Amino acid sequence: MGNLAVVGAQWGDEGKGKIVDLVSLHYDIVARYQGGHNAGHTVVIEGKSYILQLIPSGMFRGGKVGVIGNGVVIEPNALLQEIRRMEAAGFTFDGRLHISDRANVILPHHRWREEEEEKKRKIGTTMRGIGPCYEDKAGRRGFRIADFIRSEFEERLRTVYGGDSRAAEFLSQVPELREKIRSYVCNCSALLAEAIGQGKRLLFEGAQGTMLDIDHGTYPFVTSSSCAAGGISTGLGIGPKHVHKVLGVSKAYLTRVGEGPLPTELNDELGQLIRQRGKEFGAITGRPRRCGWLDLVALKYSVQINGADALCITKLDILDAMDEIRVCTEYEIGNQTVTHFPASTEDLVRCKPVYRTFPGWKSNTFALRKLEALPANARRYLEFIEEFLQTPIAMISTSPERDDTVFYPAFDVLLS
Ligand code: IMP
Repeated sequence: MGNLAVVGAQWGDEGKGKIVDLVSLHYDIVARYQGGHNAGHTVVIEGKSYILQLIPSGMFRGGKVGVIGNGVVIEPNALLQEIRRMEAAGFTFDGRLHISDRANVILPHHRWREEEEEKKRKIGTTMRGIGPCYEDKAGRRGFRIADFIRSEFEERLRTVYGGDSRAAEFLSQVPELREKIRSYVCNCSALLAEAIGQGKRLLFEGAQGTMLDIDHGTYPFVTSSSCAAGGISTGLGIGPKHVHKVLGVSKAYLTRVGEGPLPTELNDELGQLIRQRGKEFGAITGRPRRCGWLDLVALKYSVQINGADALCITKLDILDAMDEIRVCTEYEIGNQTVTHFPASTEDLVRCKPVYRTFPGWKSNTFALRKLEALPANARRYLEFIEEFLQTPIAMISTSPERDDTVFYPAFDVLLS
């Protein structure tokens, strides 16, 4: 019985929150390894929707332990507000939520800096200070949670901000934030090592997606962390041998928020239809998401980067209304065929998608739970994806609800 990683195989918003919540039943610890409160993981339980930004999505089930690893960047106010919000909704985390003492802290100047940088060069970030915090981490001038909870930290911060009045409110909050956060802080690498020694099962929760990964994504239009499975080991302080299986999560189509090239983007009525049917607006920022057909060149690349053992395809029902469904199998640049995802933005903007077209199923797949119940045309579309990627589908999600999920035989292999 191994450990499992659930990673975004596209540009984020694939529906990882629901999947992590669902599979967490089979695991003891759910661990976030990167990103920050730029994430918005939605979990729907009995018709009620909860959006999580930092708290691991599998923590809704009593007794599950959550870890926010050293690879995550933490804005103390955002974390405490989220804990309070969830406690008000009836969930408690005392004794089962752990924050790494080595995680870096997002401070007010990270947000200010991002505002300035976005004015100069638009990436379309979530404006949460994520990038500047990771910059300071790499530049060796950041602060860790271990620094933040020390009583002399306030003095250090006063030196950083001088008399900057914009920081006054935050500085006045620091003592209270410090006391509230302290009880959650621990050496998470040691905690995980002990859990592994006791035979506990770990579930690794990725945020954003592989195509936004700082190394492997559509650079520079990416986030600043290692979203792909490779980030798990460094982001949690565990050896790579403890990542046993990887599940890549992809929508049955594609979305992206923010700037950057997107070869299969639909800037037409079809794109609007997908946006409307899929409610494709940012969970945190409310921004309309860019929509398009599934891009198998990108997804194949993503499967490769993550070493994905299986796929979860989400939001299949959004395609129910389509007469025909297209899927991109290669690109063309002039008369040249491109089958590998290009590294440079300049190449990617020139890529024209080459599509394979499938007849739509034009029937309702919303909330279906049985493989046999899927329309034949939907199954054909899904079989093509499996064949093209040489990767089995383990699950299909047909609504935001936990149980509206179709399981394939590959699911059992994934859990073994
Ligand atoms: P940042 O993570 O705020 O620095 O934003 C960098 C890029 O990643 C922007 O294009 C964002 O829209 C995108 N991004 C960040 N977080 C998410 C997410 O949770 N879902 C989808 N896109 C995201």
